[in-house]
Amino acid sequence: MLNVVILAAGLGKRMQSDLPKVLHTLAGKPMLAHVLDSARQLEPARIVVVVGHGAERVRQAFEGHADLHFALQQPQHGTGHAVQQAVPQLLEGDGKDDVTLVLYGDVPLVQPATLQRLLQARGDGMAVLTEVLEDSTGYGRIVRDAQGHVARIVEHKDATEAERAIKEVNTGILAAPTACLKDWLGRIGNNNAQGEYYLTDTVGLAVADGVTVGAAQPGAAWETLGVNSRVQQAELERRWQGEQARRLLEAGVTLADPARFDLRGSLVCGRDVFIDVGCVFEGQVTLGDGVRVGPHCVLRDVSVDAGTHIEAFSHLHQAEVGRDARIGPYARLRPGAELGDRTHVGNFVEIKKSVLGADSKANHLAYIGDADVGQRVNVGAGTITCNYDGVNKHRTVIEDDAFIGSDTQLVAPVRVGRGATLGAGTTLTRDAPADKLTVSRARQVTVEGWQRPVKKS
Ligand code: UD1
Ligand code: CA
Repeated sequence: MLNVVILAAGLGKRMQSDLPKVLHTLAGKPMLAHVLDSARQLEPARIVVVVGHGAERVRQAFEGHADLHFALQQPQHGTGHAVQQAVPQLLEGDGKDDVTLVLYGDVPLVQPATLQRLLQARGDGMAVLTEVLEDSTGYGRIVRDAQGHVARIVEHKDATEAERAIKEVNTGILAAPTACLKDWLGRIGNNNAQGEYYLTDTVGLAVADGVTVGAAQPGAAWETLGVNSRVQQAELERRWQGEQARRLLEAGVTLADPARFDLRGSLVCGRDVFIDVGCVFEGQVTLGDGVRVGPHCVLRDVSVDAGTHIEAFSHLHQAEVGRDARIGPYARLRPGAELGDRTHVGNFVEIKKSVLGADSKANHLAYIGDADVGQRVNVGAGTITCNYDGVNKHRTVIEDDAFIGSDTQLVAPVRVGRGATLGAGTTLTRDAPADKLTVSRARQVTVEGWQRPVKKS
């Protein structure tokens, strides 16, 4: 039975923030959420998050997560003391396969494959995730015996000069048999340079008890980077974005500049997708074959079908776009926008909770809200659906092949019949019949003999 304990009680003083450290984001998601994603991939029987500083806010932020258990560590007396607080909530089965994996809430990017390797490396004993660093300053050092087996971990502040020369460090992540871990945690003291209960002291106790201690290494160096400051947060963000960009490039996506690409969620692309610089993808985004996204677009929870081009500076949120459409530049698609195949939506057009049927066009300066627009409809510049009467929202229906003249207001609820034409400047307050011209406009007059006033001298 696998338990995962995530340490998240630390203060994070160097973040200079009122927000608990583990709630600071990476790729748009709290660091703790990244750790949880990896943990869940292992399908643990239990996940315990040890909270302390900002405990209530952390709990609240993860309220909807029914699989999480919390343990309060108050005050904080070290990593060993932190895991002790989780002990009463650890689950045990037959003993043999009972293992507890310890993760850090501020080491957000450790990958499931690395954790699997760590669990493999333990055999039926313990294992630590280690790394060889050119500069190992500050880290706990891995002390190995003459046979090369892990013997113990010594913290930087407690290490001798010789030990400080060791380049293999403790990443902090480890796995141990649950019953043993409980026992060792009960036996560690705080007689050390920091007066803390060190989780790392369990390694020495394991060896003394004849339990083997294996070691594994992360697949990539960025996996075990911790975030203690905004500088480290920004650096890790760039590395992670670089990694995500690399994965997309390898999958056949063209990125105009992988260094100017931000993905805060998931992006699924078909073949030969092109993404220009400065785009931000959030939530779940799907782009079909041959889709092109121009520079500086924001796409959040959007699906775009094959062959569609999104031009520069467009903002799409909870929208669906069909095939071979042309969107933007400067288009705004809001939640519930459903655009059919070959639709054109041009600059300064906003569409909300509306269907735009295939081959319909709204090329310039329009607001289409709460509307059902049919196929082959032409929406002229300056058209507005007046969907809100100050209290309620109403729908506008525009049937196939209608032509909406420029600067028209459609005062909803209202319907424009199939093939109808609305003259420019119409304020439509009643339904417009099919196939006819409807226009509401004061008749144009020319005043004969009128003269401009002149200034009196
Ligand atoms: C720890 C390790 C060290 C390792 C390093 C890697 C120990 C004694 N030392 O040192 O060997 O090289 O991480 O970064 O384990 N935390 C709590 N409660 C506490 C103390 C810490 O929840 O009382 C949490 C922190 O929020 C953090 C993690 O545990 O997420 C590690 O704490 P930190 O103070 O950064 O440990 P280090 O001293 O850096
Ligand atoms: Ca640290």
